[in-house]
Amino acid sequence: MSDPATPATHDAFDAPTRTALITGASGGIGLAMARALLEHGFDVTLVARPTPRGERAAADLAKHAGRDGAVTFLPADLASLKDVRRLAQDVRARTPHLDLLVNNAGAFVYERALTEDGFERTFALNHLSPFLLTHLVTDLLLAAPEPRIVTTSSAAERMGAIDLERAASGTPYSAWRAYGWSKQANIHFAREAARRAPDPKVRAYAFHPGFVNTGFGGGSGVLSRLVALTQRWFARTPEQGADTGVWASTATPAIEPNGAFLVDRKVSTPSSAARDDAMARDLWERSEAWVELTPAERWNPDAA
Ligand SMILES: NC(=O)c1ccc[n+]([C@@H]2O[C@H](COP(=O)([O-])OP(=O)(O)OC[C@H]3O[C@@H](n4cnc5c(N)ncnc54)[C@H](OP(=O)(O)O)[C@@H]3O)[C@@H](O)[C@H]2O)c1
Repeated sequence: MSDPATPATHDAFDAPTRTALITGASGGIGLAMARALLEHGFDVTLVARPTPRGERAAADLAKHAGRDGAVTFLPADLASLKDVRRLAQDVRARTPHLDLLVNNAGAFVYERALTEDGFERTFALNHLSPFLLTHLVTDLLLAAPEPRIVTTSSAAERMGAIDLERAASGTPYSAWRAYGWSKQANIHFAREAARRAPDPKVRAYAFHPGFVNTGFGGGSGVLSRLVALTQRWFARTPEQGADTGVWASTATPAIEPNGAFLVDRKVSTPSSAARDDAMARDLWERSEAWVELTPAERWNPDAA
């Protein structure tokens, strides 16, 4: 990402380079999105946990970019709300505007585990973390001419209405239900973000990437080995999985309606549970409390 004082340029009109923050970009769909967005002229900041995987992905991508400063890696454990806050500060120190936030980091968690904040891990990483991060970079998004928020959801959202207390606590625990509810939460988030955004220029989408060969959900159990085998035989490539997210990020004019759920480059209708407006509001307001947003960090309380 470029120095805030001297924004890089990439076109004849001297417009500032568009910047994208992509979580879960050390591999899989996020890395494929980062590569495609670079080709669309974005500077990209990749986020993943502080391991060599993320550093390596960023270094490889930087070679591919052919532009100095076009790729940055920022490590963060997004299952920790404290680390999400620290990440947001790092981002703010590096760029004056954010044209695109891709909330893509996610996990399938086989056994119930609680985060340091006391939330079930799937719910914390897949829903609370993007919810908080989005709020903390709002002013950077508002500083961009056509800001977009794109969240990687899944067709696995079809798990019926979310039981919010059970989702947050993981009690009783079902890994598939926890994952499905977290991905349904991504759809509620996009719809509600479109409704509550502090400026109508903010566009928010959720998308299903298809069944993608990324090693996602990898573990040592029989079920995860079966998933890995099926992925190898039947799944899409990460580039194919990233395609609808790249479309949502770059389509001109922006896709209508704002808040849409997208599958295979089309506006799609998610489950009836994912279209429940009362649930979207309830989830939003409970999430504001769970991540402890200050009044100043909240979006449009009048829309409640
Ligand atoms: N693959 C599929 O078939 C499929 C289908 C539908 C939806 N999705 C969704 O697509 C998204 C990306 O998944 P993928 O298939 O590309 O799998 P992946 O290759 O496992 O990517 C997951 C990404 O999330 C990052 N991540 C995981 N835990 C993290 C944490 N605590 N903090 C920060 N980053 C973390 C990982 O980075 P590090 O491990 O390096 O930290 C990695 O970059 C997920 O949201 C998933 O739900 C996938």
